[in-house]
Amino acid sequence: MTHVFRLTPLAVGLLMASQAAIAADANPTSLPPAPEFEARGQVQTLPRDRLFDFRALEQYQEPAWVREKVEKGVLPPVEERLPAEPLVFEKAGMPDGIGVYGGVLRHVIGGRPEGWNWAAGQTQGWGGISYTVAECLTRTGPLFMLPPDEQEPLPNLARRWEWSEDGRQLTMHLVEGAHWSDGAPFTSEDVRFYWEDNVLDPNVATFASPGTYGEGTTLEVVDEHTVRWTFQDPASAQVLFQMAFFSFCPGPAHVLKEHHPRYNEANSYNDYVNALPVDELPIPTMGAWVPTEYRSDELVLMRRNPYYWKVDSAGNQLPYVDEMQFKLTTWSDRTVQAVAGSADFSNMENPANYVSALQRAHAEEAPARLEFGPRTVGWSLDLNLAEEMGTDDDRQRAIRQLNRQLTFRQALSHAIDRQALGQSLVRGPFTHAFAGGVFPEGPAVDADSVVFYGYDPELANALLDDLGLKDTDGSGLRNWTEGPMAGEDLEITLQIVNEYPTDVTLAEGLVAMFRDIGIRLIPRPMSGTAFDNREGSAQFDMLIRRADDHIVPIQTGDIFAPLHEGTPVWHLGSDEFPRELMPFEQRLAELMTTYQRETDGERQAALIGEFNRVFTENLYQIGLTSAPGALIVNKRLKNVPAGTPIRTYQWAEDALIRERLWTPEDQQLGELRPETLPVGRD
Ligand code: GLA
Repeated sequence: MTHVFRLTPLAVGLLMASQAAIAADANPTSLPPAPEFEARGQVQTLPRDRLFDFRALEQYQEPAWVREKVEKGVLPPVEERLPAEPLVFEKAGMPDGIGVYGGVLRHVIGGRPEGWNWAAGQTQGWGGISYTVAECLTRTGPLFMLPPDEQEPLPNLARRWEWSEDGRQLTMHLVEGAHWSDGAPFTSEDVRFYWEDNVLDPNVATFASPGTYGEGTTLEVVDEHTVRWTFQDPASAQVLFQMAFFSFCPGPAHVLKEHHPRYNEANSYNDYVNALPVDELPIPTMGAWVPTEYRSDELVLMRRNPYYWKVDSAGNQLPYVDEMQFKLTTWSDRTVQAVAGSADFSNMENPANYVSALQRAHAEEAPARLEFGPRTVGWSLDLNLAEEMGTDDDRQRAIRQLNRQLTFRQALSHAIDRQALGQSLVRGPFTHAFAGGVFPEGPAVDADSVVFYGYDPELANALLDDLGLKDTDGSGLRNWTEGPMAGEDLEITLQIVNEYPTDVTLAEGLVAMFRDIGIRLIPRPMSGTAFDNREGSAQFDMLIRRADDHIVPIQTGDIFAPLHEGTPVWHLGSDEFPRELMPFEQRLAELMTTYQRETDGERQAALIGEFNRVFTENLYQIGLTSAPGALIVNKRLKNVPAGTPIRTYQWAEDALIRERLWTPEDQQLGELRPETLPVGRD
């Protein structure tokens, strides 16, 4: 029997009145299960002491053609170029053992270098160029291959350190007798100059900020090879993570100082930042290869650094490979060329390439290996939460106020069909909904920590109605109904990087989904450099960002937690425009700080899980979709660690330790500039 309810007109009226009075409630759920996905690489872990050490060896070797230059008097002998105790990579830790010299490593990148002054915050186009020129106090890329209880940052330019008992002082001993690639000594003066005249100088926008190491932190020079940090509060190993790429990688003080206004009044800060223009080469680096040639939109060429301070346990000075090439094309081309064998390396992160790359890699004669990792490549919609900074007009200020309302963020999240967005990038089981925050397929959190506001456009509309955003002129777009914007259509700009095809596809999807809830989203495509600059000065309404730092929060947590005015980039503050943190942001900052100081594994896991819950519940950023990355490496390259992820602590360019890669002689490719060095031309 079917019951038929008949409502009297009065009851209908009452019901409608009560519905109008009750505001719509957002509907948080848990994250739906991820589709199963095979073809993943397996990491082989290795104990820390099998990786490397600093020690003197009986004798050292170098390529025969370099030795000839020494014999001609162009270069000092190898043992004089090396530190007394160089960094020694152990044979036992190498997947294919001691290598042979020669050949090339061919990268392809989509970015373009701005200049070589990385110490002053210039970018080099990414894709592995910065990882080559910038060596840092510590190193974290290779940690993915060490066991869980040995996840402390590795020594690098700082070869060892000790903590004071109260945890307030950290004394670091730099590698002694190392040289820049032009032969100048590397000393604590390089470290001091980077800290005092770059990080602490408010006129220089560096990759670290003073707050990165805790407010009030100081750094003093003890002697030529020793520096001492003093922290206001007891610090933990977490600060060591902040001394790895790209936070504490000094530039050559002996070259840069004379360009800095503090040392030469004739210079402006602009002169200083641009002191090492992209086409004036070579420049001194501490890296394994040194940029020697630049051809705009074509190539960055690098040659081996004869002063590199790392060797293998047989005494061979590294790197094994003589030449590194970076072709300047597009990011998609990087994957296409690596799969085809005309490039050697790609982080496959553009899902549009996945199916064809997989098909190609399955063929027996395929030139490259391809290994998928977890879904830790993802994209988020970041809403600018700064009330004033970077605004020019009433519309922008009104958008910022809207962005700060949780109901608005919930409405946007409910408007997004993440399944459709993911499938628009690639069909099949690759992509999965991303709720923002830390990736649940990474090592730090699991899906239980995620609060998810899934696709429900009706609810999205109801929430926007509640906010008083209504279509008052019948145009199909909602209008502002209050304040200086009253009567205007709700239009929001969306900043994207035009070099990333994924971001363009995602933007198209969002434009259509937001149209369904009466919001006009206007994409603003721009170059990566312009994007970074606008993002860094809070000049955007919303943007699509690849959330590539959201994997291991112990390394990168300060990038997405509001620990100081310089972070996160979607809520910046400045002296002129100090920011107003919302209560949940304060909670996020507390949780992240406690997490980063915690040493007990279980308590750490609980803290970061709670952080992720607060983050996703408040939609601190609106996650879109996530995908597995895949590392593609040409099969002729040896010493590639099994299962290297495209990114965990760092990108694969750092993780797979390129200075140890080698190619059997009969498979080596011709070099563009054989037998040349970046110094001592004969
Ligand atoms: C870019 C690329 C990544 C990686 C990094 C290295 O971000 O998209 O795959 O190569 O550069 O810095």
